[in-house]
Amino acid sequence: MKKRNALASLALGLTACFPAAHAQGTGQLNVVCSVQDEWCSLMSTAFARSAGIKVNVLKRGSGEALAQLLTERSNPKTDLWFGGTGDPHLQAAEQDLTLSYKSPSLPQLHPWAQAQAEQSQWRTVGVYSGPLGFAFNTELLAKKKLPAPKCWKDLLSPALRGEIQVANPASSGTAYTMIATLVQLMGEDQAFAYMKGLHKNVSQYSRSGTGPIKAASRGETTVSISFVHDAPSEQMQGFPIETSTPCEGTGAEIGSMSIVKGARNLENAKKFYEWALTPAAQQLAAAAHQYQLPANKSAGLDSHIPDFRKIRLIDYDYAKYGRSAERKRLIERWEREVNSLPH
Ligand code: F6P
Repeated sequence: MKKRNALASLALGLTACFPAAHAQGTGQLNVVCSVQDEWCSLMSTAFARSAGIKVNVLKRGSGEALAQLLTERSNPKTDLWFGGTGDPHLQAAEQDLTLSYKSPSLPQLHPWAQAQAEQSQWRTVGVYSGPLGFAFNTELLAKKKLPAPKCWKDLLSPALRGEIQVANPASSGTAYTMIATLVQLMGEDQAFAYMKGLHKNVSQYSRSGTGPIKAASRGETTVSISFVHDAPSEQMQGFPIETSTPCEGTGAEIGSMSIVKGARNLENAKKFYEWALTPAAQQLAAAAHQYQLPANKSAGLDSHIPDFRKIRLIDYDYAKYGRSAERKRLIERWEREVNSLPH
C-alpha cells in the first residue's frame, strides 16, 4: 500500500514537468500493457494527470496481447499496445493490425529502437531493450549444494531435475525470445534437442514471462529463464535472487509500442505514443523499479540497468523471428516436440 502511494506521488511530481500542451486533451485511451503492473500503473497515472485523458489499462503478456488484437480486428477496442517483446509487435504489423505512424521523435532514439520502426514500416517502435538470462535463488542453491548456472548447457544437469521454470512461448514473449535465441545460437534441430533435454528439468511452463523469476525469488523453484532486468525489483523486496547471462551467448528483446489500426481514440493514442518516447516518461520505468534499457538516448540510466557491454549478445535477427509464419511454426514445433513430452 505504502509503495503504491509512493509511486502515485512520484507520478504527480514527474508530470508537473510535462509540457502544458499535454494538459488539454479530452476523452479516454484504451491501452493493452505488456510490462509489469507497477510500470503500467505509473505510466497510465502520469499520462492521465498530464494530458487530462482517462487511461483504461488491460495487462496482457506479449503473445496474449497479439491474440487480443487479432480477436478485435474487425472492431478494435484497444487503441495502443505498450510494451512486451518486439516479435509479436512485428507480427501485428505484418498482419495489418497496427497503424503506420512515423514519430518525429525517432532521431532521439537508439538505433535498435529506430530499426524496429523501420523494419515494420513504422507500425511499431522500440521503447526499451533487455537481455535474456538465468535467475537463481541463492539460498536454495546453497541448500541443495548446486552451482550457479552460467551457461545454457548447465541447465541440462540432472541435478536440476524439476528445479527450473520458464514461461510458455504461446503466451509469453520472454519464452519465445528463448526459443528464437536458442535456434540462432545452435541451429534449429540442435535447439529443439536442447529444449527436449531442458524439458526434463522444467517443473512448469507459466503463462507470464515474469512468473518464473517471481517463483524463484519466493523459493518455489531454484532457477528461472528470465530477462535479467526483472531481478533488481525482486532483490529490492529482499528476495535472495541473482542472475547470470549465458556463456555461449544470449538474445535481447526490443520491447515495443504500437498504435492499433482503426483505434477509436487515435489522437489520444498518438499523444500517449509521443509522450512515452520522451526522456521523462522513459525514466518512469526505473521509478516503477523496472530496469530495461530506455530507447531514448537522453533518458537517464539507473545503475540497476544491465550493462550490455558485459553480456555476450548474439546478432539477433529481429525481422526473421518477428515474422508470423516463423513464430507460428516454431511455437507449434515446441508444442508438438517439447511440451507434449512427459516430465
Ligand atoms: O515487464 C517485464 C518484461 O520482462 C518485459 O521486459 C517484457 O517485454 C515482458 O515482461 C514480457 O512479458 P511476457 O513474457 O509475459 O510476454
